[in-house]
Amino acid sequence: DAAAVMRRCDVLGACSEEPGRLTRPFASPAMQQVHEHVTSWMREAGMTVRKDNVGNLLARYEGRDGRSPTLILGSHLDSVRGAGKYDGPLGVMVAIAAVQRLQDSGTRLPFAIEVVGFADEEGLRYNIPYLSSRALAGDFDAADLKRTDAQGISMADAILAFGGDPVRVREDGWHGGDLLGYVEVHIEQGPVLEARDLPVGVVSAITGQSRHRLRFTGEAAHAGTTPMDRRKDALAAAAEFVLAVEAEARHTDDLVATVGQLSVEPGVTNVVPGQAVVSLDVRHWDDKVRLERSGLLLQKARDIAARRGVSLQSEPVADTQSVRCSPGFMSLLTQAVESVGPPATKLASGAGHDAAVMAGLTDMAMLFVRCKGGISHNPAESVTEEDVAVAVDVLGKFLELLAARS
Ligand code: HGY
Ligand code: MN
Ligand code: MN
Repeated sequence: DAAAVMRRCDVLGACSEEPGRLTRPFASPAMQQVHEHVTSWMREAGMTVRKDNVGNLLARYEGRDGRSPTLILGSHLDSVRGAGKYDGPLGVMVAIAAVQRLQDSGTRLPFAIEVVGFADEEGLRYNIPYLSSRALAGDFDAADLKRTDAQGISMADAILAFGGDPVRVREDGWHGGDLLGYVEVHIEQGPVLEARDLPVGVVSAITGQSRHRLRFTGEAAHAGTTPMDRRKDALAAAAEFVLAVEAEARHTDDLVATVGQLSVEPGVTNVVPGQAVVSLDVRHWDDKVRLERSGLLLQKARDIAARRGVSLQSEPVADTQSVRCSPGFMSLLTQAVESVGPPATKLASGAGHDAAVMAGLTDMAMLFVRCKGGISHNPAESVTEEDVAVAVDVLGKFLELLAARS
């Protein structure tokens, strides 16, 4: 099973919008390729497959009787730019492998299982994280349909082109009856399991995140004739802000803050930059600290702009609260890990996950898989087949324990 999971992650890792690196945005042709592969693997595991309007792939493995509640498993199928091949797909492939085992042994549980391949967790195309799990959780904001991507294509048109009906995305909210919960297997994307020399870990909480966009507007000017004391250099202001963000995060315990995107206009050698747009990503397990530090950093941006005679517009892009995982599911996952072999360990997630949104709908839990050097959002992202085998066994054992409890 683990070998099949690894092979399948390799196949999906080749489905990209860019040559030479893995970039798979929401509702892209590369995502269509992924859907074809994953649909066939889901069917092979005895599941019926459907696609909802926003573009989630949902596969159902019936329980013992038609009335049973449902447990949702899965993760996301989209990626960041220049991604690794396990962030997202590993969780979907492990879920399919666990259902394949049930199918192969002719086992029906006292609950149905739905495996979901979310259409967009990263927010690469429209900059909204958890776009498609929000749709399933009934938390989709129809105003987002008007957002446009870098090519000016609206989300509504992207959904239409991908075979969905944008007007009916609100019908993508879960309406399949009682839910037992949502469990997501995902690479850790951090160094903790490797440091503890453990293959898997039970997640205790998922850190909240605040995303903003800031636009510094100065004055484009001739690079050769404009004296330094007469400049309104938007990029210099943004650069000072980037370093202020780094300094603030370095000096605040458990705070991480990142400027990942920076675009400059007009962006030519001999023109003093008239405009610079930057992203801001701030995270902390304590929502109060996250919000307070975000506010402080926005104030720093205003002070830098004022001092440099540059104007500043900032807008919030997304805000997700920290969520704790369900204690009941955590203890079942812990029992499952211990019965498979390794000592169980708990750890918080600095990365965001669809599970954070699904927590608004039902009980949720996550199982992390060790990844080499904690590297992620990078083509060097890697896991071992042995650790993946442990994850498949743990998920299988979790289903058994949940069935026994039900
Ligand atoms: O940004 C994150 O934490 C996740 O990878 N979407
Ligand atoms: Mn990611
Ligand atoms: Mn992910």
